[in-house]
Amino acid sequence: MKIRLEIVESGYEAIELMFAMKKLIWIFWFSTLCYANTGFIQLLGYGLLADTTSTYSTSDPTDCVNECAATDGCLAIQMVWGSGTCKLMNMIRAYTWEAEQCGFYIKNETDVTITGRSLGAMDQVLQNVVYASKEECPDGWTVGSTTCTLSVIQSTCNEYASFLEATYDGTDCVIPLMNVTYSCPNSVLLLNNFVNGYFCYAVIWRNTTVITSAATVDDMNNFCYQQTGAYLASIHSDEENSYISSLRNTSKSNNAIAIGLIPDEYGYNANTSEYSWIDGTPLDYENFANITTNKYILPIVMLNRNELWLTNAVANNTMWIVFHSLACKRGADATFTKIT
Ligand SMILES: *[C@@H]1O[C@H](CO)[C@@H](O)[C@H](O)[C@H]1NC(C)=O
Ligand SMILES: *[C@@H]1O[C@H](CO)[C@@H](O)[C@H](O)[C@H]1NC(C)=O
Ligand SMILES: *[C@@H]1O[C@H](CO)[C@@H](O)[C@H](O)[C@H]1NC(C)=O
Ligand SMILES: *[C@@H]1O[C@H](CO)[C@@H](O)[C@H](O)[C@H]1NC(C)=O
Ligand SMILES: *[C@@H]1O[C@H](CO)[C@@H](O)[C@H](O)[C@H]1NC(C)=O
Ligand SMILES: *[C@@H]1O[C@H](CO)[C@@H](O)[C@H](O)[C@H]1NC(C)=O
Ligand SMILES: *[C@@H]1O[C@H](CO)[C@@H](O)[C@H](O)[C@H]1NC(C)=O
Repeated sequence: MKIRLEIVESGYEAIELMFAMKKLIWIFWFSTLCYANTGFIQLLGYGLLADTTSTYSTSDPTDCVNECAATDGCLAIQMVWGSGTCKLMNMIRAYTWEAEQCGFYIKNETDVTITGRSLGAMDQVLQNVVYASKEECPDGWTVGSTTCTLSVIQSTCNEYASFLEATYDGTDCVIPLMNVTYSCPNSVLLLNNFVNGYFCYAVIWRNTTVITSAATVDDMNNFCYQQTGAYLASIHSDEENSYISSLRNTSKSNNAIAIGLIPDEYGYNANTSEYSWIDGTPLDYENFANITTNKYILPIVMLNRNELWLTNAVANNTMWIVFHSLACKRGADATFTKIT
């Protein structure tokens, strides 16, 4: 599966952050060419203490970042300059100050705010990846009745940034258990949770003045954002597929819903073999309707009333007649409170 994200250096816009070292650090970030909701931050002058899950052959940070975005659980990468490889990483514990370092990129996850803990920008980015799945324990830790535990040696436990409050109890590394409440930022969006976590969803009516038959995928993604604050939905399980289908407005019997899945090629008899989610998540679940030959491949996949993914139409533009809605989705807001 090929991910369609192309990463460009966005005019080297940079934010300046003052850190404990009292050095001025520039964080450059890469924004996606088409969609602004998957990003990595390049760390200059910092390394990461983390686990390496695999290595990947490339000398191009864009390729490596795309590989990380498409790999479940990957939260950061390290380019090993000159070796033609990079490392995919998870279990991020802390930053290290390494003046010459420029090989680390960390995922820019949405903010995780813990009541009573106020953090600087850099620590905030770290906390966001530690709690990337926005659950009561950091990703990869075991949920206990009053604490979270991780079976690691003491020296590894000691690597965790102090604000995360990790302590070694003689056997395991221990971190406070959080009480997490999830919510959506507006009343158009509905909260639900599936395999990949808590999300906010809306299936909205297509406004044919804005989304004409000449509309591009970008137009549709922007329409979702303007109407709901969310982007075209990706789908990762049968349950999520059925849930989005259930939000269908049944006032039109043959109502097809655009989802955030796009082919690498479209048009008459396009030789399409690869599809990608525009939010950059992996294609780890599929529910395609059977494709027939000599058809127009659609620029965007539609969810039909039988909950199947339609990729083609009998004639160009036919699909636009039954396309009435768009499925929009975003991560839920999470409020964390330490359980004491
Ligand atoms: C991280 O993502 C947020 C939301 O998309 C964005 O506003 C912010 O500028 C990004 N931060 C960096 C350092 O790229
Ligand atoms: C978690 O937070 C919610 C909302 O503040 C509260 O109603 C609930 O009692 C809390 N649960 C625990 C176990 O602290
Ligand atoms: C559709 O969009 C047009 C142009 O923005 C707007 O004037 C119209 O009110 C919208 N229609 C509906 C039903 O929202
Ligand atoms: C469903 O669509 C009809 C138009 O065909 C509209 O009047 C109605 O408000 C819609 N219902 C919902 C819940 O959006
Ligand atoms: C199909 O229709 C779209 C929108 O009208 C148009 O842009 C495209 O060129 C057409 N494709 C073919 C292969 O006719
Ligand atoms: C698809 O591949 C076939 C065989 O290689 C070629 O003849 C045809 O032109 C291709 N179609 C498109 C739309 O590229
Ligand atoms: C696709 O075709 C196969 C073989 O004809 C059939 O077994 C299968 O049920 C079809 N799938 C769908 C989703 O229609």
